[in-house]
Amino acid sequence: MEVIIKDNYEEVSQLAAEYLINTVKSKNNAVLGLPTGSTPMGMYRIVIETYKDNNISFKDVTTFNLDEYVGLDKNHESSYSYYMDKNFFSHIDIKKENTYIPNGVAKDMEEECNLYENLIRERGPIDILFLGIGPNGHIGFNEPNDFFEPHTHLVKLTEDTILANSRFFDNMESVPKKAITMGMKSILSAKKIVMLATGEAKSDAILKSIKGKVTPQVPGSILQLHNNVTFILDKDAAKYL
Ligand code: PGA
Repeated sequence: MEVIIKDNYEEVSQLAAEYLINTVKSKNNAVLGLPTGSTPMGMYRIVIETYKDNNISFKDVTTFNLDEYVGLDKNHESSYSYYMDKNFFSHIDIKKENTYIPNGVAKDMEEECNLYENLIRERGPIDILFLGIGPNGHIGFNEPNDFFEPHTHLVKLTEDTILANSRFFDNMESVPKKAITMGMKSILSAKKIVMLATGEAKSDAILKSIKGKVTPQVPGSILQLHNNVTFILDKDAAKYL
């Protein structure tokens, strides 16, 4: 495991963007695993700027997002599908049909989870997967639990997560209570994993993920079992290391 500590959010975003761009430059049909949330916004912005200034193309790239809320369709402004279009896909030359995000309004959720898992297997392996972490240690929407869920599955969001994510909604009541998320095996099947974390609110989860015991109570701790993980942190997120 590699841990890189940068001075601030901008430097974390810059380095993360370089990982993404270099992956696409060295393999034009790369498969990317992508997160949403506040943390990766800077990375997407810098990748878009680089795309506009340089000769990189995403036309043969495939992407898999980590998760999606249940009950929000892709036109809902708080859906992760909407987020990805707004913050990344609509600015680059990626083909929409190569961007995969779980369908939060699928009729049969179990079938949707199986479909998504099979797609990752068929179109994968994911070359590089970027992750954020919740203050409670969740990765994707794998919440603290008594066991690790291996595959893409339906999850009930914890109160912590609903509270943390309510900033993207009008009020707490509007935050969906369930989500679809890649499981731990889906995440660990990526060839390379890059975890991004900034700010003091993540410092405890980062300490436990890097130095604590591997436990489903701290989902990020499972990354200790992967042989090619890089944590890119700012000083605040790294303060207990
Ligand atoms: P954030 O979310 O980047 O908005 O802090 C990270 C996460 O909850 O996984």
